[in-house]
Amino acid sequence: MRVFKKRLDIENDVAVLQKQNKTIGFVPTMGALHDGHLALVKKAMAENDVVIVSIFVNPTQFNNSEDLSKYPRNLDQDLTILSNFSSEIMVFAPSPEEIYGTETVATSYDFEGLEHEMEGKFRSGHFDGVGTVLKHLFTITSPTKAYFGEKDFQQLQIVKKLVAIENMSVTIVGCPIYREESGLALSSRNKRLLPEQLKAAPLIYKILTQVKNDFGTKSVTTISDWVSQQFQKEALLTLEYFEIAKVSDLKSIKRKQKNTNYRAFIAVFAGEVRLIDNIALN
Ligand code: PAJ
Repeated sequence: MRVFKKRLDIENDVAVLQKQNKTIGFVPTMGALHDGHLALVKKAMAENDVVIVSIFVNPTQFNNSEDLSKYPRNLDQDLTILSNFSSEIMVFAPSPEEIYGTETVATSYDFEGLEHEMEGKFRSGHFDGVGTVLKHLFTITSPTKAYFGEKDFQQLQIVKKLVAIENMSVTIVGCPIYREESGLALSSRNKRLLPEQLKAAPLIYKILTQVKNDFGTKSVTTISDWVSQQFQKEALLTLEYFEIAKVSDLKSIKRKQKNTNYRAFIAVFAGEVRLIDNIALN
């Protein structure tokens, strides 16, 4: 497995691959790899000649310096996980200077309002940071297809807008949420949960599945009230937001309309650790 730290080095290899007309699948990550990430890598391997995985904890997408400093980092372990998975993967693990030079700043993007909903409301500037780093990473790796999890559904929709805005030729592929047997969505942040928090966290998916069941027969207000009550009963989890939103523009709704696709979205705190999840409702 080849590991690149310098953008020029990987850019040279990418140029060679392009000359050979190889398709490149790209999986951007912030490391602390788990089976959810590996599901993306697997799909990328099945659909492309070559796969590049980036491991980069992107400073510009954290609005909270403590969240950034506490984000789990273990490059050696990640490289072992990837090399056990496949020896053919190319890994790009740059330093912040390699991506940003001396000025670690984000570009301001207009994602047509998607950036102001849910995660955007609670993590100001987050999607500018995501857009900026992905613009850099797509430029460096020139992917044919890039793979993103529905776990971060809002991010997935925003990345689709980003490639349209930046006029990039990469195809964005969404991948289903990978869950523990308990239903808890895999996340690098789960590593920071205390044992009792880890035991409580599957409630998030239990609630989402109940919401899906109730969506056909109950009103949005009734469902939302019920969700709040469930979290009030669980002292270890604090609800930050619950929203039922249209897939097309991620605007939250009070009333359902016909022929419209909806998803339910949740963000909760388990102590200091912030967890998100979502589910398709129809
Ligand atoms: P990270 O949180 O490391 O996630 C990398 C990719 O893995 C994202 O596309 C995310 O949606 C996906 N993923 C994480 N957990 C998943 C799960 N349980 N099931 C399916 N997919 C899952 O998202 C980021 O990094 C960053 O914002 C990044 C895109 C790399 C830009 O810095």
